[in-house]
Amino acid sequence: MYFSRLLPAVALGSVLATADIVTYSPPTEPGLSYSITIPNTTTAAGSGPIYLQISAPTSLQWVSLGEGAQMASANLFILWAASSTEVTLSPRSSLDGGKSEPQYNSLANVTLLTGSGINNGVMTANIRCDNCLSAWPTPAAPPSDPNSVYTLDPEGTSTPWFWASFTGPSLNDPDPSADLAMHDDLGSMQLDLSQAQFSAAEALTDPSYNPFQ
Ligand SMILES: *[C@@H]1O[C@H](CO)[C@@H](O)[C@H](O)[C@H]1NC(C)=O
Ligand SMILES: *[C@@H]1O[C@H](CO)[C@@H](O)[C@H](O)[C@H]1NC(C)=O
Repeated sequence: MYFSRLLPAVALGSVLATADIVTYSPPTEPGLSYSITIPNTTTAAGSGPIYLQISAPTSLQWVSLGEGAQMASANLFILWAASSTEVTLSPRSSLDGGKSEPQYNSLANVTLLTGSGINNGVMTANIRCDNCLSAWPTPAAPPSDPNSVYTLDPEGTSTPWFWASFTGPSLNDPDPSADLAMHDDLGSMQLDLSQAQFSAAEALTDPSYNPFQ
């Protein structure tokens, strides 16, 4: 499954620019952090990849990042331990308006990049998402309310996101459809994506390009 394939490391001849990265750490979970950076080509075209990094201590059983203001229409990224050294990244969507646990969504075009894994008690996912500027299609499309369709402004100065986590022992489960315990902490944030723009030709031509390295 392409979402969990680790792309091989490649030696980049040169890095044209250092990415401008916006990072958020929840005040109640200081070890947890979410970073985002967006190629200016994606911003200019209104389509293309965006890059996310999720980093969390293994004392958290799972952590999530939601793109948007509400569970019902958001793209969700959930991260947990697949083993003692690898992570599972599960892109999920709500199929019932946010009423029950979001379900694994195979239509999310999400790739785990090199540098993802577990090291020194820290889980890291370096993510490229190729269809994150709007809500992912869902396998069984729910009746859509056009007012609640999610879109991301790639240079919005106040874009809505939310996060959640659950403290507990590692799951060590590589199945992206694994059943998860209810969160025990959560919050929301506004991110200024005008501060997260970068210019790098590799982002367009190298599928394993990782702006977080
Ligand atoms: C991206 O930024 C670089 C450096 O500022 C600039 O030269 C390039 O034209 C920009 N590309 C787009 C598509 O805006
Ligand atoms: C994911 O996005 C890449 C880059 O745009 C594209 O080449 C690929 O076909 C997409 N994969 C799927 C499954 O949509």
